[in-house]
Amino acid sequence: MEHFAIIQALCRLAIGDGSPPVRQQVERLRDALQKDGNLNQASSLSALLTSAGRTKELAPSRLTRSRAQMPGEQLTRSTALPVDRETAAPLAEIFFPDDIQADAPLFTPTVTNAIQSVIEEWSNTEALSKIGIQPSKTCLIYGAPGTGKTRLALWIAKQLDLPVVLVRLDGLVSSFLGTTARNIGNLFSFVNRYRCLLLLDEFDAIAKHRDDPQEVGEIKRVVNALLQNLDSRKDIGFSIGITNHPKLLDPAVWRRFEVQLEIPRPDFQMRVEIARHFMPPVSAPESHIKLISWFTEGCTGAEIESVVRTYKRASALSSGDRKELIETLKQFATLNAARIDEARRSLLFDNASSLFKVMRDDPDLQFTLGDIGEVAGRDKSSVSRQIGKRAAATR
Ligand SMILES: Nc1ncnc2c1ncn2[C@@H]1O[C@H](COP(=O)(O)OP(=O)(O)OP(=O)(O)O)[C@@H](O)[C@H]1O
Ligand SMILES: [Mg+2]
Repeated sequence: MEHFAIIQALCRLAIGDGSPPVRQQVERLRDALQKDGNLNQASSLSALLTSAGRTKELAPSRLTRSRAQMPGEQLTRSTALPVDRETAAPLAEIFFPDDIQADAPLFTPTVTNAIQSVIEEWSNTEALSKIGIQPSKTCLIYGAPGTGKTRLALWIAKQLDLPVVLVRLDGLVSSFLGTTARNIGNLFSFVNRYRCLLLLDEFDAIAKHRDDPQEVGEIKRVVNALLQNLDSRKDIGFSIGITNHPKLLDPAVWRRFEVQLEIPRPDFQMRVEIARHFMPPVSAPESHIKLISWFTEGCTGAEIESVVRTYKRASALSSGDRKELIETLKQFATLNAARIDEARRSLLFDNASSLFKVMRDDPDLQFTLGDIGEVAGRDKSSVSRQIGKRAAATR
């Protein structure tokens, strides 16, 4: 093949990032060359493919090297925090990787893959820069309260083995309104000096005051200071912004974040996994986990955690003679009326026959008579009689 040296160089560059489709095309080219009798060229491409595969397996050590090369001084537990000059209140909190829980928060596969790709990119900034790709260093995480955003951001930092400088903008903006712009300047000097991940939580706080005519000028100053500092930090280190109210943010703020990650409320399957995750040390039957997940339709991870806590408390207090789950859920729905889906709540309080029939027919639950008995504290024949009553009443 003519100009094979150039083609070989292009293939080497392209398969460097480990993308499966690129690899596939190089394999196609190798096979075509082999078929045409260009055996030397085919074997050069084979060697290239093998060494690229090996580089990928070695990724963890490359990751450690790139971490060590990140600019900045090391933050330690004795590093002095930036403080507001007048009140001496700290402007940030620091979390070290050892302080952050190791369990990953649970999300759907699509969200998990997206998060994994951010972590991969941030672990390999050096390698990406070498092949001329400017890695993104800013990420905005948004979603309903309690969907696990803060926990996720902390967990990402743990994966990168970086300490987190956590700034709650709500506190920063409201308590120091007069001096906020200066505080923001101090804060960014601090985070840019150390090797860390900057976490700007409650980012929408800067927008909340916007409609107050007395504060318009001040807020503009604050927003500008924030945006300028975020811009100049882009080449220095990673920043994550978090908000519950994405609609409140200016387009100018959105533009600053290269990655924008929405955390949705969990679907049924994810609710099952979250309920199962929070259950230990109590061991609950599968039917109980599924009913809790059905009941928490539209809820966030934090709300599921709270239902599971109520369940665990009830099962501890019932000392072996487990209180039936439906009663526990009714109690939770009464004490947390606004959190539970209206339709699910009324089904729960409907008569037993209707509820049992829904449990049997619901496509997520598909309960057997045995399952219904297990959540309602009855035997199968009594469940069957109840469903029969309902069928007779609707005839
Ligand atoms: N997807 C999830 N997986 C595991 N735990 C979760 C999940 N979502 C929420 N939680 C639990 O809910 C609690 C609250 O999570 P977190 O504080 O991260 O939510 P948030 O989205 O930051 O909420 P807010 O917007 O109110 O600050 C945590 O204790 C976390 O363990
Ligand atoms: Mg939060």
